[in-house]
Amino acid sequence: MEYKIKIFLNGKETMFNVSEGETLIDTIRERAGLKGCKRGCDSGECGACTVLLDGVPINSCSLLSVQADGRSVVTIEGLSNGAKLHPVQQAFYDAGAVQCGYCIPGMVLSAKALLDKNPSPSDGEIRKALSGNLCRCTGYTKIEAAVKLAAK
Ligand code: FES
Repeated sequence: MEYKIKIFLNGKETMFNVSEGETLIDTIRERAGLKGCKRGCDSGECGACTVLLDGVPINSCSLLSVQADGRSVVTIEGLSNGAKLHPVQQAFYDAGAVQCGYCIPGMVLSAKALLDKNPSPSDGEIRKALSGNLCRCTGYTKIEAAVKLAAK
């Protein structure tokens, strides 16, 4: 069975025909062609597939696309303004916080959601906000430094 849904994807009203049981990561990657949303574990454990749903970070591998109907979804592609990076992206770049880069879209989106709510987070608050995002290069020190830089 197919469902027609409407998502405000990166600020643009977008219609999709999705299948029953289709998860948001597949709609984003395969139907919208936005490959910045990464598939890691596909089971809600690693955070590589993080997107913002109405401003809140969620694992898009664990949400049915029909559950996003009528809601706002922001992916990493929605942050930059043309060639100009979003301040959180720029801080990750400036802090040298990227190693293999696979986890970074999710990290940046989780960091953005944190800073939108709390512009001056403590170290503990940063760690808590990023606790759902795993970095297999274990580059957490520079990632935390990047979030602090973005908070300044
Ligand atoms: Fe979704 Fe790992 S791919 S949490």
